[in-house]
Amino acid sequence: MMMNYIQADTAGDTRDGAIKLHGPEAFAGMRKAGKLAAACLDMLVPLVKPGVTTEALDAAAQEYILDNGAVPACLGYRGYKHTICTSVNHVVCHGIPGSKPLKNGDIVNIDVTVIVDGWHGDTSRMYPVGQINRKAERLINITYDALMLGIAQIKPGNTVGDIGAAIQKFAEAERCSVVEDFCGHGIGRLFHDAPNILHLGNPGEGEELREGMFFTVEPMINLGRAHTKVLADGWTAVTRDKKLTAQFEHSLGVTATGVEIFTKSPAGFDRPPYD
Ligand code: MF3
Ligand code: CO
Ligand code: CO
Repeated sequence: MMMNYIQADTAGDTRDGAIKLHGPEAFAGMRKAGKLAAACLDMLVPLVKPGVTTEALDAAAQEYILDNGAVPACLGYRGYKHTICTSVNHVVCHGIPGSKPLKNGDIVNIDVTVIVDGWHGDTSRMYPVGQINRKAERLINITYDALMLGIAQIKPGNTVGDIGAAIQKFAEAERCSVVEDFCGHGIGRLFHDAPNILHLGNPGEGEELREGMFFTVEPMINLGRAHTKVLADGWTAVTRDKKLTAQFEHSLGVTATGVEIFTKSPAGFDRPPYD
């Protein structure tokens, strides 16, 4: 696909559709931001249990980020008023923290984005609340494996379509569906930049991956159908069939030979069970 690539240090911090290619200093910046975002998700692990409210988790995340001298990227972003998104059970993404307590058997995605020295670290994981049932556990495992199979496709010369195809092929073989209405995104000094990273597609199609690209992979996988809708609050995306959905997200950079994941868990809590 014809696409415009630009050396990031000569580009402005605007979203003009060009794909930015970054150098070593930018990688160092993303490493720091990604590590803090992942450490924030680690910090939340012991707090996620039956009875906790998602607004309490939001407050803990905000305090942690500010204490570490960073900025919560979501706070004030397009009018969003919170630090994290908390997407419970059939909420696909962008669930708003609130006063309703989590209950035993829920599954919740927590998505956090921090800004450190101007660089964005964006990551999310699934958290089981108490004891969850086998189909929820299965969906979480499929979704994590889909993310990592997508990431395994990343190296210069492969394409965005290779990532999406790997995710789709695996998820559909497990009789799950891939959400099409939300995608991964370029990231760096901007929160959401080119290119879009669709979680489905055909091998060899879409933008070519080049050394120095930064983007997220963040598949949302459903037990039922792929269709979603956004609730009247303007944020909360849910499955139309109200069946369970799950998501994991990493921020990463394309290296000369493959990929560097910026948001790996310092505690080893990349996937449940977290013990
Ligand atoms: N972190 C989300 C993403 O993965 C975006 C959340 S935008 C917000 O891109 F405003 F809802 F926070
Ligand atoms: Co993202
Ligand atoms: Co995110």
